[in-house]
Amino acid sequence: MEGTIPPRKIGNLEDYETACKEFAWASVDKEFSWSEGGVYNVAHEAIDRHASNWRRNKIALYSITANNEVRKYTFGEIAEISSKLASGLTKLGAEIGDRVFIYLDRTSELYISLIGVTKMGAMASPLFSALGPEAFKDRALDCGAKYVITSPYLYKRIEPVLDDLVDIEKIIIVGDNADLGDITVKFDDVVASGDSCFKTVSMQPSDPYVIHYTSGSTGKPKGVLHGHKAMIQQAYTAKMILDLNEDDTYWCTADPGWVTGTSYGVLAPWYLGVTIVSYEGRFDADVWYNLLEKYGITVWYTAPTALRMLMNAGDEIVEKYDLSRLRHICSVGEPLNAEVVKWGDRVLNHRIHDTWWQTETGAHMVCNYPCMPIKPGSMGKPIPGVTASVVDENGNEVPPKTEGYLAVRPGWPSMMLGIWRNTPKFKEYFRVPGWYISGDLAFKDEDGYFWFLGRSDDVIKTSGERVGPFEVESALIEHPAVAEAGVIGKPDALRGEIVKAFVMLRPGYEGSDELKKEITNFVKTRLAYYAYPREMEFVTTLPKTRSGKIMRRVLKAQELGQPVGDLSTLED
Ligand code: WTA
Repeated sequence: MEGTIPPRKIGNLEDYETACKEFAWASVDKEFSWSEGGVYNVAHEAIDRHASNWRRNKIALYSITANNEVRKYTFGEIAEISSKLASGLTKLGAEIGDRVFIYLDRTSELYISLIGVTKMGAMASPLFSALGPEAFKDRALDCGAKYVITSPYLYKRIEPVLDDLVDIEKIIIVGDNADLGDITVKFDDVVASGDSCFKTVSMQPSDPYVIHYTSGSTGKPKGVLHGHKAMIQQAYTAKMILDLNEDDTYWCTADPGWVTGTSYGVLAPWYLGVTIVSYEGRFDADVWYNLLEKYGITVWYTAPTALRMLMNAGDEIVEKYDLSRLRHICSVGEPLNAEVVKWGDRVLNHRIHDTWWQTETGAHMVCNYPCMPIKPGSMGKPIPGVTASVVDENGNEVPPKTEGYLAVRPGWPSMMLGIWRNTPKFKEYFRVPGWYISGDLAFKDEDGYFWFLGRSDDVIKTSGERVGPFEVESALIEHPAVAEAGVIGKPDALRGEIVKAFVMLRPGYEGSDELKKEITNFVKTRLAYYAYPREMEFVTTLPKTRSGKIMRRVLKAQELGQPVGDLSTLED
């Protein structure tokens, strides 16, 4: 996949229109090495092929631990360790198509595991280490995970639920201080048992390489499947949108437990042989600016919440650091406020490029190109090869400046393959003939720029993380004091939204701050830590439909002091 993926930079809107007209994914497809009879596998394209050329000794990964230790790996080293891991997993009995959970903090083993698992044709499911034991269990039961790669402390966390997880065959533990039992084995031993000559398995374009769990407005998390062919769009956009070049040093701040962290935190830059930086620790303005300086980050992909936190940390801090190598900043995950774009102009000296896409879309869809005139607050335009629009309920495109559903014509290369054992959920996205319905509301302006308005469902976005209100409500009512609960996203200046819960207590319980704390802590063990309600209000009744569904939109309108709208379905 050397060199010639079509137009790297779109200089102006005319070029853009031409690129859109002339674009064919097949031309990108040809750039990959499989077209010369190579192996069809994301891991081959990301790692192996570099290890067999001059990039063998190029740094692939700087992995910085929470204590600021640096571990460096070349493409050759990642290729070797991941091959040994793939081979070791096979020796343990892992097979093509098995689901392998990677439940780790952002350490180098996480990156190596992702590559190793996909090399042997299994499906990786990276799980954010903030997930609690019940959340882990739900996901493991859903897809019948057979192997788990984890660390000693995360193993301790899931130990209490393991009895229920009969599909799990082996738990592979990274680190020395692991207490080993029947089911556990050391990561290092698995790697040591493997063969570095392991041949990456060639897959079909529509074979899945990953399952990403994400939240919808109802029910349990959905396992979104992506296929090896997603690499076509991931690689193309790595060039076109992230503008990655051979000599870039790239930092994507997303955790590989999320789609941004795999598509653009690991795979996309590595397809292009770009050096990546990964940081295990939490957000801290000084630490982050220092990383940008110290590693000479040139291209940076981050999220609005992080940018708002940097903005709040003050403009003076920026002056302490030399950010002169930085040349391109992109953002994803939630609406990027115009104010933040303007702050970027003024303080970082860069225009922040917003990108819109979803777990389900697998790669960039509507974006601001490197050279495109940016309208602060807009998500940009559909990338070449993607036809997106704003439509009404019947799939008719609505006129400019009119609110509607953000929709995409199905068939882009990185479109999800399906949802694990949940065809009805999958079909819901295609309920409007001819379109994939994203769940977002938007409008287009006269120049074809897309503007985000909100969600058409109840999905909450807090600090860029997707939270389903139903999951939180379900977790809440498992607490003995809770009779019923309604959960909404409440606008928040820093986090975009926060989770707010309205809780009805069972008879005999008194609402108190202590009880709030107890319920909150309880929810934290059930869900991911970020999904707990940051605000809780005890109420004596909840608005419900006659069929008993909690009307979250009424709760939200009341909370925001807005008109509650049509109440004809409200009970009483
Ligand atoms: C929201 C993240 C506004 C949106 C890659 C979408 C955005 C959901 C943007 C997907 C953006 C993502 N502007 N909203 N640039 N990017 N969103 O699956 O509601 O975690 O549907 O994927 O995040 O979130 P997900």
